[in-house]
Amino acid sequence: MMSMRSLSPGPLVCVVGARPNYMKMAPLLRAFTARGGLPDVMLVHTGQHYDLAMNERLFSDLQLPAPDLNLEVGSGTHAVQTAEVMRRFEPVVDDVKPSCVIVVGDVNSTLACSLVASKKRIPIAHVEAGLRSFDREMPEEINRLLTDQLADILYTTERDAATNLAREGIDASRVRFVGNVMIDSLLAHKARAVPPETTLARAGFDPNVVSGAAGFGVVTLHRPSNVDSRESFAEAVAVLTDVAQRIPLVWPVHPRARANIDNFGLAATLRGAAITLLDPQGYLEMLGLMAAARIVLTDSGGIQEETTALAVPCLTMRENTERPITVTQGTNTLVGRDRMRVRECVDAILQTGGKRGRIPELWDGRTAERIAADLESWLAEPSTAPERRVA
Ligand code: UD1
Repeated sequence: MMSMRSLSPGPLVCVVGARPNYMKMAPLLRAFTARGGLPDVMLVHTGQHYDLAMNERLFSDLQLPAPDLNLEVGSGTHAVQTAEVMRRFEPVVDDVKPSCVIVVGDVNSTLACSLVASKKRIPIAHVEAGLRSFDREMPEEINRLLTDQLADILYTTERDAATNLAREGIDASRVRFVGNVMIDSLLAHKARAVPPETTLARAGFDPNVVSGAAGFGVVTLHRPSNVDSRESFAEAVAVLTDVAQRIPLVWPVHPRARANIDNFGLAATLRGAAITLLDPQGYLEMLGLMAAARIVLTDSGGIQEETTALAVPCLTMRENTERPITVTQGTNTLVGRDRMRVRECVDAILQTGGKRGRIPELWDGRTAERIAADLESWLAEPSTAPERRVA
């Protein structure tokens, strides 16, 4: 006999852990809630990011509801953080018996929750699947590879992702090209972006930094490969001080980078350059800064995509990217920490405006709706991982 519980489907458990997850999950939550045929939504925050600036401000900017549950795992080594998310997520899954666990992106929380769900035979949907940098020095690459192996349904942002997944033996029937939910957020909130002058003034800086005739550039750096060793970080800072001789820079600094600026004695060099260091900013402040910038220098994944969508030239301070479409179609150029290469690219951008690019296919602001519609029909299929149904 069927139990009562099996008659009412468990919730869609949507997982966020770190900053780049929020702009991906916000449009999904809205689309899931708007679709009558889907189960209720439950938002779980693992607590990987916990700073106010990294967290609550972004939640309110993105109009994300407060999480139903915060697992409060905090920081730790990769093993500790991943294990702690697993330990705390498992009883949640046992308790609420999700119809499906929805994970986004490539952070430690993405993999940890996928591992728990897969051992419990709960269906997993991975949004932003199939991106590969082919660089296993990046912790995110390991998270991407393994999450995609575990996911039952894989939503991709660019067509090449399907080729990556096929190479790893993932059946094409599990893969859906739907576009980019991060761009859903960008298009939904662009009109509310905070002007850069306001952001500077609120932070106690002279707004003229961003309103001069030369314009300004925006910097973000937080990858371990750039900021965790003294040598690499000093090299990156040397690149930035060189660029700052041509155009003033504004840099909202991630806590990891902030700590290492002090640890590695780089503060004095930065103070001597036309570089304004800000605390991590809200989503609307970042949108305003990026949209008005003449150039963005970054090692972030999401910002490579956002600058492509905003048609602002982006120099990515990495040797590779898991988002090649931003280079082939968008405004992105890979420059590493090569000072001469960066100088050439900056000069070209200042003279000609740089790469204009075009908007990649299906980066149209409607990706979350497509995912919600697809998920509804997939969950309704009798063949959807029947052995995975929790009794
Ligand atoms: C994580 C993600 C990365 C993502 C980035 C965006 C992984 C492996 N990495 O990296 O993909 O691009 O988020 O920000 O999941 N810290 C704080 N406050 C916080 C969170 C972190 O001060 O709210 C500091 C702590 O010192 C912590 C360090 O930042 O040890 C790193 O945090 P962690 O979440 O481990 O990785 P991120 O570098 O933020």
